[in-house]
Amino acid sequence: MLNDEPVESDAAAPIADGSDPQSTERLQKVLARAGVASRRVVEDMIAEGRVSVNGVVATLGDKADPATDQISVDGAVISTKPDAVTYLLNKPAGVITTASDPHGRQTVLDFVPANRRVFPVGRLDAETEGLILLTNDGAMTHQLTHPSHGVEKEYLAHVRGTPKPGALRLLRQGVELEDGLTAPAQASYLGGGVVKLVIHEGRNHQVRRMCEAVGHPVKRLIRTRIGPLVDHQLQPGEWRELTTKEILTLQKSVNRSAPAPKR
Ligand code: URA
Repeated sequence: MLNDEPVESDAAAPIADGSDPQSTERLQKVLARAGVASRRVVEDMIAEGRVSVNGVVATLGDKADPATDQISVDGAVISTKPDAVTYLLNKPAGVITTASDPHGRQTVLDFVPANRRVFPVGRLDAETEGLILLTNDGAMTHQLTHPSHGVEKEYLAHVRGTPKPGALRLLRQGVELEDGLTAPAQASYLGGGVVKLVIHEGRNHQVRRMCEAVGHPVKRLIRTRIGPLVDHQLQPGEWRELTTKEILTLQKSVNRSAPAPKR
C-alpha cells in the first residue's frame, strides 16, 4: 500500500469516558483538518506531549470529539468545531455592537452573512470604528474576552490638543479611573493629534476615559489591531473570514497562563 498514513479503521474504538464513540476521531485527523499541520507532523506533536484533550496530555492513538472536546496545542485551545466561523469586520462609526437596537441603528450583524449565528467578540462603542471579530465559537469568544487572557488591542485616538510627554507617561503608567487604576498601556504620539494606544483590558469606554483623564478627550477612535490581526485593505463596512492560520496565530497570542475555558 502506497498510502503513508497508518491504516486505521473508520469505526471509532469504544472509549470509556462516556463520550459518543461515533463522533470521535483520531486526534491527528481532527487537528490536521483544523489546519494545525499535516497528520504526520501532528503525530509528532502528540508524541512530544504538546497536545492535550480536556486538559489531559494526549498520547498517540487518542481520539477526540471535535464538536465537544477542548483540544490544545502548546497550551493554545484549537478551534475544532466543524461549523466554526470567525469574521473580521471593519466597523463603521454609528453602528452598534449589540444584536438589536431600540433606536433602529444598524448593528454589526447587519454587515456579515446572516446564515451563521455569530456574535460579536467584545464591544466597540457606537462611534468607534475599526476591527471587530464575530464568531459562533463560544470557546474563542471566552478566550479573547476573558480579562486574564490579555489580548492586545491597538487604537488610534484622535484627541483634542497636543499630548505632552507627561500625559503619555501617565497613560503608560496607568490612569486612575472611577473603576480603578488601568494597567500600563503602550502609548505613543504619532503627530497631528493622533495617539497610538495599546491596551489589553476591556473596560467600558476605556480608551476614551483614559485620554479624557490625561486632559485629551477623544474626537475619533479607531481600533487597528486585535492581537496579531491587522487588515489595511478592509474598508469600513467590509468583512472577511479569518483564515485557519490567522485563527491559530490569534489563539497562540492569548495569554497561556490563564485558565483554559470549558467548552
Ligand atoms: N475604548 C473605548 O473607549 N471605546 C471603544 O469602543 C473601545 C475601547
